[in-house]
Amino acid sequence: MELIVAVYDDWGIGAGGTQPVALSADRKFFRETTKGACVIAGRKTLGDFPGGKPLPNRVNVVISRGEVNMEGVIVCHSPEEAAEVTRQYPRVMVIGGGSIYRQMLPFCDTAYITKVHACPESDTFFPNLDEDPQWEIAQELLSGEEDGIRYEMCLYKRK
Ligand SMILES: NC(=O)c1ccc[n+]([C@@H]2O[C@H](COP(=O)([O-])OP(=O)(O)OC[C@H]3O[C@@H](n4cnc5c(N)ncnc54)[C@H](OP(=O)(O)O)[C@@H]3O)[C@@H](O)[C@H]2O)c1
Repeated sequence: MELIVAVYDDWGIGAGGTQPVALSADRKFFRETTKGACVIAGRKTLGDFPGGKPLPNRVNVVISRGEVNMEGVIVCHSPEEAAEVTRQYPRVMVIGGGSIYRQMLPFCDTAYITKVHACPESDTFFPNLDEDPQWEIAQELLSGEEDGIRYEMCLYKRK
C-alpha cells in the first residue's frame, strides 16, 4: 500500500479541516499520481474534497465509525477493514487525513511526500519520516517554486 501527503516544514498537514497552503503544482502531482488508483480517506478528509464529491476516475474508500451518505464511495469502519476490502485493487493509496495516515502507515511501504517549504500553523501532523529509521528517501521526483514557495516531491520507501 502507498500513501501521498503534502507536509510543511514542521510536518504539519492541515488546520481547521483544510490545507492552509496548497500549491497547484502539488494538486497536479496528486491528480497524476492517484489517477486510476483506489484511494482511502478518512471521513473528515472526504468532506474537504472538491464539491464534496468522490474523486473521479478513482475507487473511493472512506473510513468512518458511522454512516456516510455519499454516492459512489465504499464505506469501511476501520483501517483493517479498508486494508482487507482494497486487497483486490492493484494500486491502493492512502490520501489522509492525519488520523488515517497515522493508523494506516503500518500498512504502507511507499510514500509520496511533497515537502512544501512553508510553515503555516497546523493542528494536524504527519509522522516525520526523516526521523524514522524504518524509512528512507529513494528518489527525488520533482522540485520547483510557486508563489515564492519552494517544494519538492520525494519518494520514500520502507527499508
Ligand atoms: N496535506 C495533505 O496532504 C493532507 C491530505 C489529507 C488531509 N489533510 C488534512 O488533514 C486534516 C484532516 O485530518 P483528520 O485527522 O482531522 O481527519 P481524517 O483522518 O480525514 O478523518 C477522521 C475521521 O475518520 C474516521 N476514523 C478515524 N479513525 C477511525 C477508525 N479507527 N475506525 C473508524 N473510523 C475512523 C472518523 O470518522 P467518523 O467521525 O465519521 O466516525 C474520524 O472522525 C485536514 O486539515 C486536512 O486538510 C492534509
